Amino acid sequence: MNPNSELGPALQALIRRADAALALALPAEALPPQTLHRAMRYAVLGGGKRLRPLLVYAAGAALGESGAVLDAPACAVELIHAYSLVHDDLPAMDDDDMRRGRPTCHIAFGEAMAILAGDALQALAFELLAHDRHAPHGIEMLRVLGRACGAEGMAGGQALDLSAVGRRLSLTELEHMHACKTGALIRASVQLGALAGGADQATLDALDRYAQAVGLAFQVRDDILDVEGESAVIGKTAGKDAAAAKPTFPSIIGLEASGERLQTLINDAIASIKPLGERAVLLEELARYAAARHH
Ligand code: IPE
Ligand code: IPE
Ligand code: MG
Ligand code: MG
Ligand code: MG
Repeated sequence: MNPNSELGPALQALIRRADAALALALPAEALPPQTLHRAMRYAVLGGGKRLRPLLVYAAGAALGESGAVLDAPACAVELIHAYSLVHDDLPAMDDDDMRRGRPTCHIAFGEAMAILAGDALQALAFELLAHDRHAPHGIEMLRVLGRACGAEGMAGGQALDLSAVGRRLSLTELEHMHACKTGALIRASVQLGALAGGADQATLDALDRYAQAVGLAFQVRDDILDVEGESAVIGKTAGKDAAAAKPTFPSIIGLEASGERLQTLINDAIASIKPLGERAVLLEELARYAAARHH
C-alpha cells in the first residue's frame, strides 16, 4: 500500500515537491565522506509521509503563499524529523530495526554512522533555513525551529519518554510528553509556513491552536497504530510500545477512549482554522489525515 494513497492530489503533488527539494538539499553520495552522505540520504529519502513539510506548505497556502520561500522551511522540518527518527531507533533509545519498511539507519550503516548522520541532518536543517535570504522573519524562523527541537521540545520530550518507561504516567504527564516529543515539531512546521506567508499575530495564534491539536492527535494515532497496525503496513515493528512498557494513550486510557480523544482533537483543530475560510482546505485535509491514517 502506497503510504501517500490516503491523501488527495494537491497534497500528493506537494509531497513530490518536498521530495525533490530534499534530494537537492542533501549532500551527494559521490562526495566524501561517502558513507555519511549515504546514511543521510538513506534516512531521509525513499519513504515517509512528509507530514511536516506538508504542514509548512499548507500553512503557507492558508496565507496565500505558495512560492519557493516555503521550500527551505519544508526541508528543514523534515531533516529534523528524519534525524529524530534515526536517533529514536538506536539501541540506546527504542532499539528498533525497521523504519519506513526498511532496516533502520543503524542496522544499515552501523551505530556510529547513524549517530553522525542524525547530527549532520540537524545541522543541515539550520544551514538551509539560514541560507534562505528571501525568507521574511528569517531569524524568528531559526528561533522557532531551534526551540522545537531542543530541551523544551523534541529532545526534551524524548528524555521524558525514556524516563517514563515502566512508570504509570497521569494523562496530563502523558500529554505533556507527547506535546514535546512530537507536538513541538508539528507546531513549528505550521508556524514556519505561517511566518513565511507573512501571517499576522491573530492568524499565528489560530494556526497554533490548530497545530497543537493536530500534533497531539498525530501521536495518539501513532500510539493506536502501534497496537492495531500491522508491521507490513505501518513500516515499523508493531507492538513495540507495550513490549517496551512505554506510556501511551491506549495503555493509559484504553483504545476506545483514545479514539474518542482523537475525534475531539480533530474537531478542535478544524474549528480553529474556520476563520481562514477556503484557503485552509489543505490544513483541514491534513487534520483529518492525522487522525485517520493507517501508516
Ligand atoms: C513517526 O513519525 C514518529 C512520530 C513522531 C509519531 P511519522 O509517522 O511522521 O514518520 P514518517 O516520516 O511518516 O516515517
Ligand atoms: C518518536 O516517537 C518521536 C520522535 C522521533 C521524536 P515514537 O518512538 O513513538 O515513534 P515511532 O513509533 O518509533 O515511529
Ligand atoms: Mg520513541
Ligand atoms: Mg520509536
Ligand atoms: Mg510510536
